[in-house]
Amino acid sequence: MKFLFEKLFPQLPLVLLCCLVRVIISEHVSDVNLPNNETVPAVMVFGDSIVDTGNNNYITTIGKCNFLPYGRDFGKGNQATGRFSNGLVPSDIIAAKFGVKNLLPPYLDPKLQPEDLLTGVSFASGAAGYDPLTSKTALVLSLSDQLDKFKEYIQKISGTVGENRTATILSKSIYILCIGSNDITNTYPLFRRLQYDIQAYTDLMASYATKFLQELYGLGGRRIGVVNLPVIGCVPSQRTLHGGKQRNCSDFENQAAIIFNTKLSSLINNLTKEFPDARLVYLDIYNQLLNLIQKPATYGFEVTDKGCCGTGNIEVAILCNPLTQNICPNTSNYIFWDSFHPTEEAYKVICSEVIDNKIKDFF
Ligand SMILES: *[C@@H]1O[C@H](CO)[C@@H](O)[C@H](O)[C@H]1NC(C)=O
Ligand SMILES: *[C@@H]1O[C@H](CO)[C@@H](O)[C@H](O)[C@H]1NC(C)=O
Ligand SMILES: *[C@@H]1O[C@H](CO)[C@@H](O)[C@H](O)[C@H]1NC(C)=O
Ligand SMILES: *[C@@H]1O[C@H](CO)[C@@H](O)[C@H](O)[C@H]1NC(C)=O
Ligand SMILES: *[C@@H]1O[C@H](CO)[C@@H](O)[C@H](O)[C@H]1NC(C)=O
Repeated sequence: MKFLFEKLFPQLPLVLLCCLVRVIISEHVSDVNLPNNETVPAVMVFGDSIVDTGNNNYITTIGKCNFLPYGRDFGKGNQATGRFSNGLVPSDIIAAKFGVKNLLPPYLDPKLQPEDLLTGVSFASGAAGYDPLTSKTALVLSLSDQLDKFKEYIQKISGTVGENRTATILSKSIYILCIGSNDITNTYPLFRRLQYDIQAYTDLMASYATKFLQELYGLGGRRIGVVNLPVIGCVPSQRTLHGGKQRNCSDFENQAAIIFNTKLSSLINNLTKEFPDARLVYLDIYNQLLNLIQKPATYGFEVTDKGCCGTGNIEVAILCNPLTQNICPNTSNYIFWDSFHPTEEAYKVICSEVIDNKIKDFF
């Protein structure tokens, strides 16, 4: 048997070595300098499609993207993992920034090994919102579902490494919360507008944000980054829907995002007083994305108001699929991949601009 094997694969050791070297190279995590030689055992992410790395593949929803052209530039190419982008998403980029790993797997992936769990996962679910109605109408994991999964996660790692190490992992890990766009673009106009004005609706969103952060703290989270709402009225689909012939940004949605972001910043300040041993870091993507859209050339971009997929005006999720025509050949000068989500290239710029000088605030 062994003979046959060697006959068939005389080069096996070399092949194996190549694989090994490849794995090592591809798993090399960017060099990071965390303050005071701090280490971060894991990164845990909660939120929506900006940070979902594939959880929606495992649930029954139309909020999916595990088909091409999604993932066109992922890994060796053409790997539709369920990330809503041509390649990486912020969960991956942030995990690498904290020196943890280059890809943050989705918690629902049944192939995850215990050691994958120990360095963190994404619990995020595309199309979710702060408002439970947002997640319910899209049949995706709400924030409270995501926390339930996190509780299950804690039980699992406790079973693997014991309670003591689990407590250390929980308190030293980086947590990221990134959600809320779908509340403003979908749920508010479709279901909540008659019931709430935007002040009252953003209060409701903020109350869910507070509740989530208190519960996360209660479960042991201490180093928590909270991403604000992007300049959501300027994503291509909202320009198409609300921007008139010239496809301007939607003022109403941008104002709604600004109103919510003020409340988010305020509740973070309040929680910081309530939990002095926690580090709650407000991460401003609103202004960074706006900056990219207003000064694309500074960052090497050209196309700011259309996605790469198809016409770029409306295609997202199932509307951006293997039959879509005229997909741009190269995303390197595009800010948006589809009509709602940035390209990997834009995500990398935004994450660097937003997080690099805030890393120290997590410790
Ligand atoms: C960090 O670790 C290095 C090597 O172990 C040590 O020389 C240095 O003093 C440490 N720095 C701090 C701030 O603890
Ligand atoms: C758990 O950690 C505490 C404090 O670090 C230590 O005193 C205790 O012995 C540890 N218990 C176990 C079972 O390792
Ligand atoms: C779009 O912006 C232009 C220039 O600012 C303005 O003149 C026009 O009225 C806007 N259109 C809509 C529909 O808001
Ligand atoms: C923060 O606390 C202040 C003072 O208690 C309160 O007026 C304000 O509403 C709180 N902000 C949020 C967003 O909860
Ligand atoms: C896209 O264009 C950039 C800049 O010209 C180039 O560096 C990159 O290799 C191209 N990518 C692909 C997939 O062709």
